[in-house]
Order: sequence, then structure tokens, then C-alpha cells
Amino acid sequence: MSIVHVLPSDVIARIAAGEVVERPASVVKELVENSLDAGATRVEVHLKEGGKAQIHIKDNGKGISREDLLVLFQRHATSKITSALDLDKVLSLGFRGEALYSVGSVAEVNIKSRAAGSADAWDMDVKGGRKSDPSPVAMAAQGTEIRVNELFFNTPARKKFLKSDASETEQVLNIFLPYTLLYPERSFLLTHNGRTLLDVAPAPAAERFARALNLEAKHILTGEGAMSAEDARLRFIMGDINIQRHRRDLQFLFVNGRPVQSRNILFHVNEMYRLIMPDGVHPAFAVFLDVPPEDVDVNVHPAKREVRIRQEARLGGFLRTQAEQILMTQGGAKVVKGAEPLFALPEQVPFNEGIAGAKIVFGPGQRSSLPEPVAREAAPLFAQFAADVAQDRQGALKDRLLRTRFIGTFACKYHLFEEGESLFVIDQHAAQERILFEKFRDQIASDSVEVQHLLTPLILKLTPQERVAFDEVQEKLRLFGFETTLLDGQAVAVHSVPVVLPSPELAVRALLADEQVAHTDHDTLARRACRASVMTGDVMQGQEAVYQLKTLMGCADPFTCPHGRPVFVELRSSFLDRQFLRTG
Ligand SMILES: Nc1ncnc2c1ncn2[C@@H]1O[C@H](COP(=O)(O)OP(=O)(O)OP(=O)(O)O)[C@@H](O)[C@H]1O
Ligand SMILES: [Mg+2]
Repeated sequence: MSIVHVLPSDVIARIAAGEVVERPASVVKELVENSLDAGATRVEVHLKEGGKAQIHIKDNGKGISREDLLVLFQRHATSKITSALDLDKVLSLGFRGEALYSVGSVAEVNIKSRAAGSADAWDMDVKGGRKSDPSPVAMAAQGTEIRVNELFFNTPARKKFLKSDASETEQVLNIFLPYTLLYPERSFLLTHNGRTLLDVAPAPAAERFARALNLEAKHILTGEGAMSAEDARLRFIMGDINIQRHRRDLQFLFVNGRPVQSRNILFHVNEMYRLIMPDGVHPAFAVFLDVPPEDVDVNVHPAKREVRIRQEARLGGFLRTQAEQILMTQGGAKVVKGAEPLFALPEQVPFNEGIAGAKIVFGPGQRSSLPEPVAREAAPLFAQFAADVAQDRQGALKDRLLRTRFIGTFACKYHLFEEGESLFVIDQHAAQERILFEKFRDQIASDSVEVQHLLTPLILKLTPQERVAFDEVQEKLRLFGFETTLLDGQAVAVHSVPVVLPSPELAVRALLADEQVAHTDHDTLARRACRASVMTGDVMQGQEAVYQLKTLMGCADPFTCPHGRPVFVELRSSFLDRQFLRTG
């Protein structure tokens, strides 16, 4: 008896659909692209229950005739390419004729359309791949309206895999947003359970960027450039130093009018921002790249997320210089911190690994590693200090630190203290983070967070993603001492803040950047809030530095910041003697 057989067509369809339709966001992507390809100047998307119950899309594009409806929802039914030759120069967003077929086999779909120049409109249902005959329906204007109900009704395993409404909605937003940036001259509306998440009218590109992401327009820079040998053109919309977020969800890349992902290319732009932004926060930008169509392969992934570009490395370098130029010339000099050489303490080196990885970091444009001899010589000194901490000699170490004399502040970041033959260098932000964290953590644990009520509330404009996160975060915020109310769906008013945090705004944003906030423990959240809050904290001087050290010594764990980085390093005078080639 044979055991090999060809699968029934509905099973094949469901398997194929899985490659295109993973979740509501992928349906939205396909339907929005179809509307845009149809020339719609207005696209509306309405979700119910994160798109799981319904995705309703409405456009004013060229519509679909009855004849075309009859072939729609079949595999490889497309109007966009006709031969393999066209594959090399695809200019529309869709081209495979896969999308509707896939959606139609895993959901209950209703489509209504009125083609341009026709007085008639038609209505058709598709369920599990089976179509009804188109029947006449009334539609006031040309365009197409599609309702996708009960996604994955026939593939329960996939349905179970879907996340919470908020999480699915956020993924839809992240798919939807790029199109609003790509087509600033068109209108877009996105709602969830009747609530507006995004509503944008035609505007110039930079203005659209600010409007769609709810950012201050005055912090948005633009620029463009060309790489003539490659026939590549480049356009940038960039947030300046004032726009810093904890997630990379405000970073967009478009290649030949298509939203794409390319870690390599985004990496170059992010690297450039590193020159002016602290670790742990990310900038906002959109890069629009145009290269000859034959240099791009858009068919790498079935869902068209990824592209491959020839000359990617060279393009990256070009992007970097262009971005740097825009930021450094338009962004204002105030952003160029650390133009003088700074001695960078071993940021990533845990105590017990010595300092082999230490390096000296120069200002923008030039980086170099620590001169060889220092790197090698330094190891035992730090190792000794590490050993003191590790081997439970904390008490002795605390005593020594309390006996130190304050010398001064270096590079607006480090406090210098001396004791005997030792110079202690204290990272004031790491120290501050430790102090705040322990205080805040204890207050949260005992449900006694000290709050300050604000006379005028602090108003925070939310990005659409933060807006979605807010519903899940609000309760945690309250627990942490932030009383908040939502204003007009776009901004949050903060009425009270915890006293311990110096920059409450940054702390709130850090909490809003956590998708899983409902499941994250309080210590982690408190740690994050403190980190965000001191990252740009004030510079302390003199007496304050001494006071800080004393307070720190009262902490349960004063030797590392809550994220595990060292708070101190100790330099012995013998170390300096060797640098000066003093033999003794
Ligand atoms: N909103 C719409 N308005 C007008 N025509 C549409 C619309 N949506 C789909 N169509 C027509 O239906 C065809 C099939 O759409 P479908 O999304 O399945 O394939 P595609 O867009 O050609 O390719 P891809 O699978 O890459 O998206 C399209 O080629 C287009 O002619
Ligand atoms: Mg399509």
C-alpha cells in the first residue's frame, strides 16, 4: 500500500498561508500595501481585539471590477507583474499574488469594491478559501473595503500562539507606521476597538515624521545625499540629541519605496549617534535609500521583510558620513560632548576579570585603544581591588573609603578621593544609581513610596507605541508613585512623582518601553527607572560628592551599580610610578 500522497488543496493553502500570515500585523501589512498599490490617497484600518476578532480596511483606490473579483483569492492572482522579467524591477509593493489567497484561506473575509469609472459595486465572501458569487452592493465612491474576521478560525494551533490584544496592536502599529512615513502625501487612520491610535493628514515628510510619531517638530533634522558611482540616492529624517528612547522602535529604513529591515544598515546610523548619545538610549530616524532596482533583491523572504542590497558595506559607510554631517552641522554644537579625550573606566569589565579590556576613548571621529603597557600593567591593581570585594573584605574596604579625602571632580563624571597610597575614582552616576535604587526598591517593597504632588502636571507626549503600552503600564506607574491621567489619547499628564527620582520623565518613558511590564518584577522595573533617571543627572561638586560617598557606604551593596557595573576603581601610586617609568 502506498503511503505517499498529494495533500488536499485546502491543506496546501493553509500551509502556504502560514508563510505570509503569521498574525494580525501581517494581514494589515498585506492589505495596506494593496490599498497603496491601488493608488489610495486615504487608508483606514480598524482593529477589534488586536485584530484577532476583526481587521477592517477601507481605501479610496482604483477598486476591483467584478471580473477581477472572480479570479481574486486564487494563488498567484496578481495584476502587478506578468513575466519573470518583471521580477527584476518590481515597483509596486506587492507582486506575488499570494496575499489575498493566504488571508482568504485562514479567515472569514468579506470584500466590497467599486472600480474606478464604474457605477456598480460588488460584494463577495471568502471563507477557508471558498468564495461566494459576487453580489451587487451600494457604495458611494470608488474604492475597496475588506473585513477579515476570526483570523485562524481553522488553524487553532496558530490562533493559540497569538499574544494579548495590546501586544498584537503594537505589532500592527509597528507595521503600519512605516507606510505613513513613506507616503506623507496620503491620509492614514488606525483605530483599535473604536479608539484612534493614529490619524494623519497629508504633510511634508519631516512634518509627517513628527506628527505620526508624536515628536517635537523642532527636534527633527533632514538632509540628503547621492553616491554617484553607485547611482544611489539617500534621504534622511533624523531626530536630534533631544529625542532619546529606550527602544529602537522609532528607526525606519526604506529601500526603493519599501519598508525593509537591514540590521547592517541601521547599525551604521546607530553607531554614528553613539558619538553624542549615552548608552542605553536610542535615536529616532528614517532613512530613505534609492538604488537601481537591479541592485536589490526583494524576494529574499516570503513576507518581503528583508532585502539584500549589493554594496551594502560601502553604502553603510556613506550613510554614516552623511548622517554625521547632518547631525553635527544642524544639530548644534551643544550635542558634541566629550570632544576632549576622556579616560574611560572599564565599562563592561566585571570586577573579577581585571582590566584587560580597558580602553581610552577619544572624542567624535577618533577612537583608539589604551596604549599597550597600561593595559597590561593595570590588571593586577584592579584585580586586587576586585579580590577585596569578592573575598568579603567589604567591611575593610568601606572603612578605607570612609577615610578618604576628596580631591576633585574629573570630566564632570568622576569623583576623585585619596587614601594613603590609593586614588579612588568613583563613577558618580553609578553611585547615584545604586543609592536611588536601594531607596526606591525598599519604598516599593514596603508600599511606602514617598511622592511629590506636582502643582502643574508634567505633560508627556506619547509615541503611538507608548500610547499602546500605557494601558498596561498605568497600574505599575501608580504603584511606583506616578499618578497619571491620559489626555486626548496622545499625551499623559503626570500628577505626582516619586521623590527619589531626579528625572521622572525619563523614568516614565523607561517603564513605557517595556512590552512585558505586567510580567516584570518590581526590582527590575525600579532598577530600570533609576537607571533612566540618573543617566542624564546633574553633575555634583565638592560637599555633595563627599555626602554621596557617605550615603553610598550605607547601602547594602555599594560596590556595583544595580546593573552590575563597578562604582569605584582604585589606582595605586605604584601604578602611576610605572607609567612615569619611576623605578622607585
Ligand atoms: N485594495 C485593493 N484595491 C484594488 N485592487 C486590489 C486591492 N487589493 C488587491 N487588489 C488586486 O488583487 C490582486 C491580488 O492581491 P494580492 O495582495 O493577493 O497580490 P499582489 O498584491 O499582486 O501580490 P502580493 O502577494 O505580493 O501582495 C492585486 O494584484 C490587485 O490587482
Ligand atoms: Mg498584495
